[in-house]
Amino acid sequence: MKPDVLAQGVYRVHAQIGTRDLFEGIWPLPNGVLLNSYIVKGTQKTALIDLVKDWEGAVHEITTQINALGIQINQIDYLILNHMEPDHTGSLADLKRKYPNLEILCTKKAVPMVKAFYDIEANVRAVSSGDTLDLGGHVLRFEETPNIHWPETMMTYDMNTGILFSCDAFGSFGRYEHCFDDELDEKEWDLLIGETVRYYANIVSSFSQFVKRGISKLASLDIKMVAPSHGIVWRKNPSQVITLYNDLASYMDGPAKKEITLVYSSMYGNTAALVPTIVKTLEKEGITLHVHEVPRDHASFVLASAWQSSGLIIGMPTYEYKMFPPMYHILDIFERSHVKNRKVFRFGSFGWSGGAQKQFDPFVQALGWECLGVVEYQGAPKEDDYKRIEQLSAQMASSIMQWCSEEEHN
Ligand code: FEO
Repeated sequence: MKPDVLAQGVYRVHAQIGTRDLFEGIWPLPNGVLLNSYIVKGTQKTALIDLVKDWEGAVHEITTQINALGIQINQIDYLILNHMEPDHTGSLADLKRKYPNLEILCTKKAVPMVKAFYDIEANVRAVSSGDTLDLGGHVLRFEETPNIHWPETMMTYDMNTGILFSCDAFGSFGRYEHCFDDELDEKEWDLLIGETVRYYANIVSSFSQFVKRGISKLASLDIKMVAPSHGIVWRKNPSQVITLYNDLASYMDGPAKKEITLVYSSMYGNTAALVPTIVKTLEKEGITLHVHEVPRDHASFVLASAWQSSGLIIGMPTYEYKMFPPMYHILDIFERSHVKNRKVFRFGSFGWSGGAQKQFDPFVQALGWECLGVVEYQGAPKEDDYKRIEQLSAQMASSIMQWCSEEEHN
């Protein structure tokens, strides 16, 4: 792969990571992921913005691309660490061992993390919001954007070109053959939007209030390009991804989209028996429905659907006096990811004793969900259960439509 030219003296060097591994050790990558670093070469000094971890040859790949620019690693003066997570710093110890004079710039909060993760203290400089670094023809300005993704995170803005190096923020899962938004074909574009939403839900959603805060801090900058460390570079329409992130962040307070996610587990089919009635009713109501069965579907995809949905329908049986374990995992992920302020109902079967609902209720409370009802039954569902689930599904659809319409008019 070749380096990509963003502007004079500004280049993306990147690695395409395949589909075998899990991101953060948990999230599947059916479409892979990109690790992007950036070189800014001024007339006096050269900076490398964000590193990579040694993942599927990524270090070799970006080193080769930097060399292709006529730059040797020992000619880099500054390493700017926008974020400490090891996908962007994993090769730091090795790099500093080889090139001890390389100066690291990061936030004050990142300094002890550089020591804790890599035992590095020498040549580490803390920078704050508004500080600048003059490379000659490129003046970089730093902006602390805590909790997008970790508390120490910042962004770097090139005041001469208007390029914002945003690290995790405005990132996406997925591999793309082209560097820029205006180069993608329709198929790649669809992949990008889907993988941006899944990346946001999986990685960033817990920090949605910080995303909103961070975006408002950027309002004073004239952003001509958004260059994240995962995904493509937004050149033609950088405001599109900022608006998308702002919308996704707002879903935490509800409502999200006019959509419903049905997620269910079933042991012997007695809980699943109600699913066709729910699907048919919601189809009749004309509302978009995402259906996931767990544990067959990974939490990553369930979470992406749930984050976009204003309504959640949870189907699960009682298992040994408690919730069915794979569904407990899903609800735990929902709680960690702040899937708050949704309308919900639950249905499910039990064998000889209930118990799932008792464990479900604290999640409803903690996440600020409005529970429209519960349909719980011993063994197989009866005629009344089918009627009740049809009525609840219709009620859910009209309630979501009304909630979203009210929000649109506000
Ligand atoms: Fe891409 Fe939070 O690291």
